Amino acid sequence: MQAVQAALALAVCAGGALPMGSGSAASGSGGGGRALSSTKNQTVFEAPNHHDVQDVLHGWWTVKRTLPLRYLGVTLLMTFLKLYPEHYDAFAGPGAELHGVERLPQNKPFVAKAVTCAYGMSSMFENMEDLPLVEEIAKQVGERRGRDGVTAESLEDMRDLMLHLVTHYHKKYAELFPLGIVESSTRTLNWIVDMMKKGMQRQADKKKKAAPP
Ligand code: HEM
Repeated sequence: MQAVQAALALAVCAGGALPMGSGSAASGSGGGGRALSSTKNQTVFEAPNHHDVQDVLHGWWTVKRTLPLRYLGVTLLMTFLKLYPEHYDAFAGPGAELHGVERLPQNKPFVAKAVTCAYGMSSMFENMEDLPLVEEIAKQVGERRGRDGVTAESLEDMRDLMLHLVTHYHKKYAELFPLGIVESSTRTLNWIVDMMKKGMQRQADKKKKAAPP
């Protein structure tokens, strides 16, 4: 298990080398996330099915058994900021990028947010058997991130990164993960991010209502 742990750690840290962007599994059509409907700038994805839930639970426990959540959160978020430095402020505060990504583990405000985000993600995955609950968690988190100024685009970037990592791990350690993990994770993360975006919209509507005419 130690060799697997080291390899998983390296894979996360090497995120900068991952092929990002175009045609990712998250784009909805091919990778298992069937879009129910699509309007301008807004795609609505179907909820994960029973198999997706089982696959995600199994896959998540495999990852969590292998890597401490704190480590996972910090390396995931470092990789995220390496790939998308435009989201620096949301995690590390203005100016932190000047010290370089490698210094982030010494930056306690960053570590605190990264760890909270990882534990938050974990609470969603572990409650997958109660989808209405996960839907409400995702909407509430979306509202809070909307209030913090986090954008829908950054949620999509994070989803894409996570799906690249799932694909990478599945290829490398097929024996550790369910066969359909990539499709199941795609459907699940598309749906979670959709619900978070709904929460962001809820927050934006509230703000508009409260604003003086
Ligand atoms: C798939 C995408 C994501 C999921 C499922 C997710 C989930 C969560 C959850 C459940 C929490 C804990 C609850 C809370 O404090 O609101 C959290 C915390 C946090 N998330 Fe994420 N998140 C995602 C993406 C992002 C992105 C893209 C950003 C910023 C660019 C972000 C920034 C944060 C921060 C800063 C916190 C800590 C809030 C605080 O206590 O100060 N998250 N996330």
